[in-house]
Amino acid sequence: MANLSILAGKTYFIRTFGCQMNLHDSERVSGLLDSCGCLQASEPADADIVIFMTCCVREAADTRLYGQCSSCKSLPAPPSGRRVVAVGGCIAQRDGEGLLTNLDNVDVIFGTHSITHVADLLAAAFEQGGHQVRTEEIDTGEATDMPWHRETTYHAWVPIMTGCNNFCSYCIVPYVRGREKSRPMDEIVDEVSALVRQGVRSITLLGQNVNSYGRDQGSGPRFAELLRRVGDTGIERIYFTSSHPKDLLPETIDAMAEVPAVMPQLHLAVQSGSSRILKLMNRRYTREQYLDLVQRVRAHIPNIALTTDIIVGFPGETEEDFEQTLTLVDEAQFAQAFTFIYSKRAGTPAAEIFDPTPREVIQQRFDRLVKHVETTAYAFNQHSLDTVVPMLIEGSSKKNDRILQGKSPWNQTVHCPIPDDYETHELVGQVLDVHIDTARTWYLSGNAVGNPR
Ligand code: SAM
Ligand code: SF4
Ligand code: F3S
Repeated sequence: MANLSILAGKTYFIRTFGCQMNLHDSERVSGLLDSCGCLQASEPADADIVIFMTCCVREAADTRLYGQCSSCKSLPAPPSGRRVVAVGGCIAQRDGEGLLTNLDNVDVIFGTHSITHVADLLAAAFEQGGHQVRTEEIDTGEATDMPWHRETTYHAWVPIMTGCNNFCSYCIVPYVRGREKSRPMDEIVDEVSALVRQGVRSITLLGQNVNSYGRDQGSGPRFAELLRRVGDTGIERIYFTSSHPKDLLPETIDAMAEVPAVMPQLHLAVQSGSSRILKLMNRRYTREQYLDLVQRVRAHIPNIALTTDIIVGFPGETEEDFEQTLTLVDEAQFAQAFTFIYSKRAGTPAAEIFDPTPREVIQQRFDRLVKHVETTAYAFNQHSLDTVVPMLIEGSSKKNDRILQGKSPWNQTVHCPIPDDYETHELVGQVLDVHIDTARTWYLSGNAVGNPR
């Protein structure tokens, strides 16, 4: 054990890439460093400790680390005279010590299973120098016991499980995050109750596939029950992500419809509209089953904002396969879709499939898909015109500090001028009713009705 007191007074900066799991891991690392007396810096240049929380889901995320990490070399020395650079997250888990071959200024490497050890590793780097590396898959300590530094006062990410058992053929996540492991339900409910007492109004339950929550614990309670119990804590808004379509049970749809705090939003990643490609992707549902599920969800929650992830250019995708994705987008009427060009990930089964499709064709398909998504997103937002939407205020708009920005229950971005006699900072985390008079593809805007609450 290194002497943690060496960390007291040191400044740190964390840059996070990738998904909400990494964001939340960064909040835990930050909480741990705060508890050791470290102070957050706003720039890498001011930090004694720079941490990169990395992602390797696509090649672009991989490459970004190398640029950012190398740029640390040219920074002036920090106030304390010595800077320690640490790499955590999914690339660290995948490459471990191998990272040192290309990144000669890295001092600490910690994997996704080792975040409880970050303070020790950093202290050892300051005390002893050399490289401190820890990426064991079975590691001691539960990250969920760690203190936690939240970025906002009104919203919290709440992991309910880690890992993934699905092994979609293109995806690296199960290799870098391990197998599914659910947190005990009582622990999650207690955590949400504590958040409510601290004034948090909105939470997002996190897992790579929340629909398989509890399955690793035998015949115990499942996701639908978790939603109901979390709904009883007094939290005002519950979101969750991600949901694998093959595991979305009728009892979960019932709970979504019946628990008032569960917001009318569902992220249901489809990946492709072609059953042939879905089979090659190992997704274990067909186009027809997906669309049938969408219909069942809409029958219970008619105004739901359905969002999705779509991959274009999976190896061997034909024009016909791709057109099926376009028609599925039109039929499902997504409120939003995260669209990705397939990225070959070494070690995954899809990386072995030969792909004759030229890069330009894939790019053109991607652009066509984006246009379809923009059309359905625009259509979804039109339903909000001339309605009053409760906006949870997040801050001011990037372009104009007299315009408030927040989220509707459907997770749409909403803009509204600041009501007279208020400043933005007083309103962050409050709910304001907004009468919507403009609905664009990616946001709504309107005017305040009544007072913030
Ligand atoms: N577990 C989540 C699910 O299944 O909905 C997805 C998590 S993954 C971090 C987010 C998205 O990245 C996936 O839904 C998929 O669309 C995309 N993705 C994963 N691997 C990819 C790859 N090799 N190339 C391009 N996109 C990929
Ligand atoms: Fe990746 Fe599939 Fe697991 Fe999602 S469900 S993390 S896409 S393997
Ligand atoms: Fe990336 Fe790891 Fe998330 S690979 S998308 S940060 S689970």
